[in-house]
Amino acid sequence: MPRLASRIGRAKPSAIMQVAEKAKRLKAEGRDIISFSIGVPNFLPGPHVYEAAANALTHDSGQYGSNRGADALIDAFVAHMGEIGLTGYTRANCAAGIGAKHVIYNLAEALLDEGDTIAFPTPYWTSYVDIAEIVNAKIDLLPCPPEQNYKLTPAQLDAALAKKPRVFLFNNPSNPTGMVYSKDEINALADVLVKYPDTWVITDDIYNRMVFDGIGYHNFVHARPELRERVIFIDSLSKTYGMPGWRVGFMAGPETIAQAVVTMNSNHITNLPEVTTAAAIAALTGPQDVPRQKNVEFQAKRDQVMAVMDSIPGVKCPRPQGAFYAFPDISAAFGRTHGPTGLAIGNDVDFCNALLEAKGVACVPGSAFGEPRALRISYTCPTPQLQPGLERFREFFAELV
Ligand SMILES: Cc1ncc(COP(=O)(O)O)c(C=O)c1O
Repeated sequence: MPRLASRIGRAKPSAIMQVAEKAKRLKAEGRDIISFSIGVPNFLPGPHVYEAAANALTHDSGQYGSNRGADALIDAFVAHMGEIGLTGYTRANCAAGIGAKHVIYNLAEALLDEGDTIAFPTPYWTSYVDIAEIVNAKIDLLPCPPEQNYKLTPAQLDAALAKKPRVFLFNNPSNPTGMVYSKDEINALADVLVKYPDTWVITDDIYNRMVFDGIGYHNFVHARPELRERVIFIDSLSKTYGMPGWRVGFMAGPETIAQAVVTMNSNHITNLPEVTTAAAIAALTGPQDVPRQKNVEFQAKRDQVMAVMDSIPGVKCPRPQGAFYAFPDISAAFGRTHGPTGLAIGNDVDFCNALLEAKGVACVPGSAFGEPRALRISYTCPTPQLQPGLERFREFFAELV
C-alpha cells in the first residue's frame, strides 16, 4: 500500500475533543454529566446576525469571492480593531480566514520553513503545538508555572529571543489559564521585543473583548508602535460573538504578511462563503449588547469558580481575569486515591478520568496544554449547572485519601 505523508504522523487528534467525546458517551448512557471541557462560549449571536445571513441567501451572487475577505468584511474588522485602540490599519494590512485556527495555520506556512523555531509560553493552546509540528518547525516552550501566575517574564522572553526564533507566539487573554497581562506587563515585554528585530510576533488575542475587573486589553503595538512592522494580531468571531461554528477569523499586520495569507487563502479556500460573510459583518457592526452582557455573566461565573477553588485545601488557582477558563493546580491530589471508587490518581489524566467517572464532571487534563500539574475548567455551561458542578469537584477532592 502507498504510504501517507510523514506530516500526518505528526498531526494528532485534539486531546480536548477526546474528553468531550467521553463525556458525550457517558451522557448517552444516561449519566448525569456536567461538562467543563469544551472551550465554546455556549451562547448564540443576536437576531440581526441570523437576519443578515438569511438576507444573503436571497442575494447570492453565484460567484467566487475575494481571497482576502470581502471589502465590507475587512472594513468592519478594521473598525472593530479601532475600538480597542488598534488604529491606522487598512484593508491591505488584513485578511480573513476560516476561523483563527486557519489564519494561524496559514501564518505558520507563510512564516516558518522546516526546522525554523517558533517560541511560545507554556501553558499553551493545544493547536499551537499541532500546527508547528505539521509544518515541521522546532518548538521552544517557555515554561510559565502557576508560581508565576502562568505569565511570561521579560527575562524569559529576553533569553528566548536571544536564540533568534523566527516566530514568537503570544496569547492574551490566555486559553487555558484565563490570565490577562496588565498594561505594565505588556509594556515590559514590548521593551524586550523591540531589541530583537529578526523575530515575527503573533499575538493571538481572540479573547480581547472578554476581559474582567476593568484591567483592559493591551497589545505590544499599544506599548511600542514601532512593533507594528513585526506584530501580527489575530482575532475571531468564535468566542466574542458566540459564533464558533461560523468559522470567521482575522489577522492584521504588515502588508507583506497579509498578502502571504491572501496567497495561502487563494490556494486553500479561495474565499469565505457569502452567507458567513454577511453574518460576520452584522455581528461586527450591529448591536453589541449580547457580547457585552455575556462578558458580565462570565465575570460573575469566574467569581463563582474562584470561590470554590479558593476553598479547597491544596488547590492553587491563579485568578483568571479573562476568557472563560480557570486552570487550577491540582497536583496535591497526585499519589492519592479517590476513597469511594478506589480510583488511584497518579497524574492529571487519572484525575480527570476519576472525576468524570465518580462525579460526572468533565475537565481537560493540563497536559493537553503542556502543564501536567493542572486541569482546565471551561465555565460556560448553563448557569444552573455551574455551582453543582463545582460542588461535585469540591466533594471529589474531599473524598481523596
Ligand atoms: C487561543 C485560541 N486561539 C485560537 C482559537 C481558534 O479559534 P477559531 O474558532 O477562530 O478557529 C482558539 C479556540 O479555542 C483559542 O482558544
